[in-house]
Amino acid sequence: MPDGETDGRLPTTIDTSVAHEARVYDYWLGGVDNYPADRSLGEAIAGHIPGVRSMARANRVFLGRSVRYAITELGITQFLDIGTGLPTARNTHQVAQEVNPAARIVYVDKDPMVLAHARALMKGSPEGRTAFIHADLRDPESILRDPGLSSTLDPDRPIAIMLIAVLMYFHDEDGLHDIVARLLDGVPAGSSLAISHFTGDFNDTGAARAVQAAGRGGLTLVARNRSEVEKLFAGTDLVPPGVTTLENWQPALGEDLPDETDPHEGPAWAWAGMGRKP
Ligand SMILES: C[S@@+](CC[C@H](N)C(=O)[O-])C[C@H]1O[C@@H](n2cnc3c(N)ncnc32)[C@H](O)[C@@H]1O
Repeated sequence: MPDGETDGRLPTTIDTSVAHEARVYDYWLGGVDNYPADRSLGEAIAGHIPGVRSMARANRVFLGRSVRYAITELGITQFLDIGTGLPTARNTHQVAQEVNPAARIVYVDKDPMVLAHARALMKGSPEGRTAFIHADLRDPESILRDPGLSSTLDPDRPIAIMLIAVLMYFHDEDGLHDIVARLLDGVPAGSSLAISHFTGDFNDTGAARAVQAAGRGGLTLVARNRSEVEKLFAGTDLVPPGVTTLENWQPALGEDLPDETDPHEGPAWAWAGMGRKP
C-alpha cells in the first residue's frame, strides 16, 4: 500500500444495484466503471441537462486549471482532493506532478469502488507522494486527523483543498458551511480552496427536473445560485476571475481535454472558483 494509506471506517461493499455519484459521473465522461443503475440515472438526468457530458468534461478542465493555478500562481505543492471520483484522464496528481514532480496529493472519497480503482491506477511520481483516505466529507475531522494526511502532507505548509463537484450532494441543513469552515480551519494561511458546483442559474426548470430525477434514483442533488456558491468561499479571498462558469475560469491555463467530439453545448450548468486563505 502507498505511504499513509488508511481504511476501515466506512462500508467497503460495492452495491451495483443502486446508482452512485462517482459511477454516474464516470458514465457521462465515457468511462467503463459504471453499471445499469448508474447509466439509467445518468440518462434520466441527461434528459433534463442535454449538455451534461460537456459539463463533466468542462469540470475536469477546471480541475486541471485549478491545480496549475495553485502551483504556478500561489506556490502550493500539496493537494487535498476530496470527492476524488473514479480515475479518468488528467487526475489531480498527474496535472500537479507534471508541473512539479515533488507535488504531494491526498485523495479522499467515501466510495469504496473509487478507492479500489484509485489505489490500483493512480500511482504518483517517484519524487512526489500520493495517498488515499477512505472517509466521508460529512466528518471533516476524520479527514484532517487521518494519519494518511499527516504522513503525506506537511500541515505547516499551504494545502490546496479541492471540493470539485462534490458540495452539490449536500443540503445546507447537512452543515455544509460548517464543514467547509472546519476544513479551512485545519490548513495554514496561504492555503487555497477550489470549488465547482451545479447550478440552475441558466435553466431553472431543467435543473429542478434534474434534481427530481436524481432524487428518484436515490441521489441527493442540490443546485445553488452564484451568490450561494460565492458564500461557500467564506473566509477566503477569491482569486481572479472570481466565481464564473467552468470554462471561463482562467482559460489561459490550458488543460483542454483531447476528446472534442462532444463540444460544449447549451447553457452552463456549474459555477467554479478558487479562494485563498489570508
Ligand atoms: C461527481 S464526482 C467528482 C469527481 C472529481 N472531484 C471531479 O470533479 O472530477 C463526486 C465524487 O464525490 C464523492 N463523494 C460524494 N459524497 C461524498 C462524501 N460525503 N464524502 C466523500 N466523498 C464523497 C463521490 O463518491 C464521487 O467520487
